[in-house]
Amino acid sequence: MIYLDHHATTPCDPRVVEAMLPYLTQHFGNPHSDSHEAGREARRAIDQSLDSMAAILNAPRESMVVTSGATESINLALRGFLMHPRCKRHQVVLCETEHPAVLEVADDLSKQATASGQPIEIIRVGVHPHDHPSAGQVDVDQLRAVVNEQTAVVSIMWANNEIGSIAPIQSLAEITHEAGAVLHCDATQAVGRLPVDVRATDVDLLTASAHKFYGPKSTGFLVVGNGNRRLRLRPQIVGGGQQRGLRGGTLNPATIVAMATAMRIANDDLESDTSRILELREMLWNRLHSALDGLQLNGTSWREDSSARLPGNLNVRLRDIEGEAWMAATPDVAFSSGSACSSTEALPSHVLLAMGLTESEARRSVRFGIGRFNTVDEIHAAADQLIASHQKLVG
Ligand SMILES: Cc1ncc(COP(=O)(O)O)c(C=O)c1O
Repeated sequence: MIYLDHHATTPCDPRVVEAMLPYLTQHFGNPHSDSHEAGREARRAIDQSLDSMAAILNAPRESMVVTSGATESINLALRGFLMHPRCKRHQVVLCETEHPAVLEVADDLSKQATASGQPIEIIRVGVHPHDHPSAGQVDVDQLRAVVNEQTAVVSIMWANNEIGSIAPIQSLAEITHEAGAVLHCDATQAVGRLPVDVRATDVDLLTASAHKFYGPKSTGFLVVGNGNRRLRLRPQIVGGGQQRGLRGGTLNPATIVAMATAMRIANDDLESDTSRILELREMLWNRLHSALDGLQLNGTSWREDSSARLPGNLNVRLRDIEGEAWMAATPDVAFSSGSACSSTEALPSHVLLAMGLTESEARRSVRFGIGRFNTVDEIHAAADQLIASHQKLVG
């Protein structure tokens, strides 16, 4: 199988596995047991890992909170902020193209009230339409028009998991802070693929998952604060008092060492990985575009603005067949018809619909995500299979 679905997940890098294994067997101490060396050794491994991650992200060390992944981090960031007794505002502003991990937390919050009893209100802003040069990018003017002194949190993803669009984070932070609100950024698709600098961008809350950057699944983190504003979160998981009471439960040194190793490798290899992946995407697009009549690109063209789209992302729309049929007819290539979550329900992508595509156009769209270990030969072999299966389907 040729794996071209790196927005859904990535394989663990063998260097990551090698780094984590001793923490499952030899150094297995409980990092919260400081009465013996086994525990202290595990604690040191965690501390070094979090020091290293904070340095790469340019975030204050004390802001790092380990979680079971982006979904939990997002829950802690949004619920934790809105539900804290000191939160006096009641609105959340987000973009229509956020991941379900944000949208569903927001839907749930919209049925609740803040600690002071104000019903929580969710305001969704749109994106530029598919025929706009910045197709799929958050509409910053719309955002500016709705953020005000009632806004508690603005939640905008750094990079979109379906069309790879990259948000203008610094401008969003400025708009947010002018209104006295805080910016949460779902950086799940950005960490490891783009330089992410928490202080320089002035993001307040930042969430990510290790399995999107060649680390293990069910491991992630939340950055709480960049030193510029005091943030208070109500814990969502209590018991044990770990992580300064913000998130209870025994930490896993093995997966934390793995996450930090994965982040260090991604950071060290960022330039070389990016340039190779850009070439592979160009190759895949050229092969498919020249062979499949009427193939369209969904989202911003990297030719017009190379910094507006994730390097490995390719989202295309077929003229005549549905993405699901193309996937079924090409079983040896792993790609996707939308986000991993919505593809199980076979719903047309909410991201493509938000860009103004019709339901039929959305159903005729697929997403490829090229990753670190893909090769030129794989891209050619995948293109051969995709073109052959498409020809069979159109007859
Ligand atoms: C943008 C984005 N946010 C959040 C998530 C949720 O990540 P996890 O399932 O690791 O919690 C994903 C995963 O697909 C994602 O792509």
